[in-house]
Amino acid sequence: MTASDLARPIAGMPSPRERFSADWLAQREWLDGRSRSHRLTGLAADWLATRPGGHGGPHGIVDLGSGSGSNLRFLAPRLPGPQRWRLVDHDPTLLALARRQGATLRDSVGDRLAIQTCCRDLSPVEDELLADADLVVASALFDLVSQPWAEALVAASAARRQGLLFTLSVDGDWAFLDAAGHRIEDEEDIAIRALFQAHQRRDKGLGPALGSSAPAVLAAAMSAAGYRLESATTPWHLAAGDEARVPLAESLLQGWHDAALELAPEEASRLERWRSRRLAGLAAGELGLTVGHRDLLALPPAGCA
Ligand SMILES: C[S@@+](CC[C@H](N)C(=O)[O-])C[C@H]1O[C@@H](n2cnc3c(N)ncnc32)[C@H](O)[C@@H]1O
Repeated sequence: MTASDLARPIAGMPSPRERFSADWLAQREWLDGRSRSHRLTGLAADWLATRPGGHGGPHGIVDLGSGSGSNLRFLAPRLPGPQRWRLVDHDPTLLALARRQGATLRDSVGDRLAIQTCCRDLSPVEDELLADADLVVASALFDLVSQPWAEALVAASAARRQGLLFTLSVDGDWAFLDAAGHRIEDEEDIAIRALFQAHQRRDKGLGPALGSSAPAVLAAAMSAAGYRLESATTPWHLAAGDEARVPLAESLLQGWHDAALELAPEEASRLERWRSRRLAGLAAGELGLTVGHRDLLALPPAGCA
């Protein structure tokens, strides 16, 4: 996803792992919430409500690559309780934020949640990752993972008859919008988007990354595992002239520029001209942005709850 390119090394953390700034995750949370599919969320809630309290207790929900808890904050009030969450991420700082903010959350009937955080790598896919879960969720994660990892996860979840709600996977598309909301792009936009998409496929720690092929690879793996599949396009739209959102649009543009520059340093001055021109358009309220995403919900075949 675009945000992967806003992942920044954190001072004092020598690990080459993919790290994301809490500020960036907070900046995008509002837009994520506005963009994601309420239909698929509702279907997941209906399905979870038919489960007999998971494994004899509350509904178990695992959030993979939870970051600072954006997915938890969106889903918890929309899903039936009681809920027991396990947030998995390799970044202890983000997990601490998620735990702190999660303390005040309630489920759809107003009860508190049980929240456990698990600071570890997402690989390997094993019992510790998926145990006791009815629903496995992840948001803005799958562009970072490899095809074998995604397929192993879907197969392991299918064997446990778990539901899967994987939201906001980028499909590789982004474009500028004019003041009327129409898509505009020139040769420079197209060339830089291609560089950005190539950057997305670089290894982020779990093997060669899926990048924009994440939605298609996931959907194929889910169908092959016998899941019933629901899908929705969930693009980000930032309208031209929405002043409050200019900083977010600028962060995105900067991320695309930086990713392209990393792959093509010899193009630095051309990239800088493009960045300045498009930044000026955003700041003047003449340009908006759209970024393509897809949400997927996979439910076990009827009769296999
Ligand atoms: C783009 S952020 C999304 C965070 C959160 N789901 C959200 O929607 O705000 C991706 C998250 O995946 C985590 N992550 C990336 N690679 C990981 C890995 N190999 N193991 C564990 N966590 C990982 C990052 O730390 C980050 O919190």
